[in-house]
Amino acid sequence: MTDLKSQIDPDKVPQHIAIIMDGNGRWAKQKGLPRVLGHHSGVKSVREVTEAGAQLGVKYLTLYAFSTENWNRPPAEVTALMSLLVETIKGEIRDLNKNGVRLTAIGDIEALPPATLKTLKEGIEKTKDNQRITLVLALNYSAKWEILHATRILAERVKAGLLNPSDITQDLFEQELSTHGMPDPELLIRTSGEARLSNFLLWQVAYAELYFTPVFWPDFGQQELYEAILSYQNRERRFGRISEQLS
Ligand code: FPP
Repeated sequence: MTDLKSQIDPDKVPQHIAIIMDGNGRWAKQKGLPRVLGHHSGVKSVREVTEAGAQLGVKYLTLYAFSTENWNRPPAEVTALMSLLVETIKGEIRDLNKNGVRLTAIGDIEALPPATLKTLKEGIEKTKDNQRITLVLALNYSAKWEILHATRILAERVKAGLLNPSDITQDLFEQELSTHGMPDPELLIRTSGEARLSNFLLWQVAYAELYFTPVFWPDFGQQELYEAILSYQNRERRFGRISEQLS
């Protein structure tokens, strides 16, 4: 097997990778298994990709674990996903601490079921001092929710006479997004062959490189992460300029 890891330029590793973990259901169906077993297998990929990313020096990994639209799934699947989250966070805290992984979350987490919220908050609190990599779980998240939320906060400040509309800059707006303090993702990966953003980090991925792979999430591991990073490193990021301006 080609050694993909050795081909990665350590000075050009993305600081922040965002992933739409898609295809758990189809992975399970292909094997004649219930959908929920696909989600269970997806947890193994979360573990593998987090560790592989940390080893390469990735500082933030943001995973789309549950969107605001996912509440529309069959109730049994929603319940199973919420239980899986509780089980996984509880079961992983010790390893997260051993491996320097700080857990955090973005999204309207206060609206999660109480048991999920409680475990999530415990996980965040117990790993808050870890510094090797930050694992950001997007839970009850959607980019349109987040952008509206930020807009309302700023509008309230304008109404109270604390802010002039002309003082609303990109920086000020970003301070009210759930990702404030994090660099924007340089690379966004979506598994399972779909090529959509599905309401994920729409503001933050304005200049991200997009990488779509047909691999289902439970089959996405460290080698697949290396391939995605190599693809990213082979692209020219121009940010609106022309090739000749980039030295
Ligand atoms: C998408 O596959 C996957 C999800 C909506 C859930 C992802 C959740 C996990 C991998 C487990 C979460 C655990 C942690 C700790 C992050 P899909 O069900 O949409 O697949 P399909 O498109 O093939 O139906």
